[in-house]
Amino acid sequence: MRVIIRENPREVSEYIADYIISRIKSFRPTEDQPFVLGLPTGSSPEIIYKNLVQRFRAGDISFKNVVTFNMDEYVGLPRDHPESYHSFMYKHFFSHVDIPPQNINILNGNAHDLAAECASFESRIAAYGGIELFLGGVGPDGHIAFNEPGSSLSSQTRVKTLAYDTILANSRFFDNDINQVPRMALTVGIQTIMDAREVVIVATGHHKAIAVQQGLEGGVNHMCTLSSLQLHQHPLIVCDRDSTLELKVKTVRYFESIEQAGTDARTQGPPLVYRSKTYMSASMGITQQPSPATTPKKVPKDLRINTEFNRAMDDEELTPDSMSSRMVDSAISGIDTTLKGDLIFDRMGARVATN
Ligand code: GLP
Repeated sequence: MRVIIRENPREVSEYIADYIISRIKSFRPTEDQPFVLGLPTGSSPEIIYKNLVQRFRAGDISFKNVVTFNMDEYVGLPRDHPESYHSFMYKHFFSHVDIPPQNINILNGNAHDLAAECASFESRIAAYGGIELFLGGVGPDGHIAFNEPGSSLSSQTRVKTLAYDTILANSRFFDNDINQVPRMALTVGIQTIMDAREVVIVATGHHKAIAVQQGLEGGVNHMCTLSSLQLHQHPLIVCDRDSTLELKVKTVRYFESIEQAGTDARTQGPPLVYRSKTYMSASMGITQQPSPATTPKKVPKDLRINTEFNRAMDDEELTPDSMSSRMVDSAISGIDTTLKGDLIFDRMGARVATN
């Protein structure tokens, strides 16, 4: 975990904007090999977008070869509602830079078939070879995107019911009336975020201090989905001083000492080697929309946290089937042969198939 601490939200935003720009530049994106950027909404990223727009106007960066995927969108809120995440993104970012409209991907919370919309979103990310850098915020309860406390750490893009805390927090955008806040949203899952090459989180304000403390110093826990990033190889959390108030002095000093030692997030940690991609241009489209008929029967192998670094592990080791087979071989090996015949150590898979 890399943590950068700055004095206030302005400095945090400048740092992150600068960081994103340096990542895009070093990637040298082209039309055929675009930089794939995951983006959030919320008041914390607003100043980051402002910085990015300023840097674009100054000629420092172009978003022409950048493809974006937004984290989430409310369900049932008209797309042109001032508080929809579509409106937010165009108002604060897309309308001010040179990103081609076809490179923008935002979930459609008004889709007729929400499950198909989520599956299509995941397919589109996969078609671009995955997300290079996912920028995210954090809710006061530690949620990332709309992965509320209790979310599966293996989740992918899906419909999510909002937690009461989030409804209350977001009511400030809806005339402080909780009844106007949509109750559901479409959101990328924790696994979707974990699959990104790099994750950068912005945390500012005293009201984020408990989330930051639990996410950094607590154990990995689905009640604070920020903590899942402890299992990512390239997570970066950029905090302002207020959001570190619940951290131990020792923790803060340690992360500060890393910077004081002359290293920062750009040089710390394992080298960032951009993965080779199987890129499919948007025009080639998604070959097939998932449907019950095309859904694989077996659970896909990559439904695990941080799969990239455990690929060498034998997947069979994680399945109940192989566990039961090991029990047959080892656990009852010392038992009397007659008794052994009476015991049923059948395979879980076999029982599922016959019942
Ligand atoms: C919402 C968004 C999150 C965001 C959070 C915090 O719940 N879905 O992506 O991180 O709000 O937003 P803010 O930065 O306004 O505190």
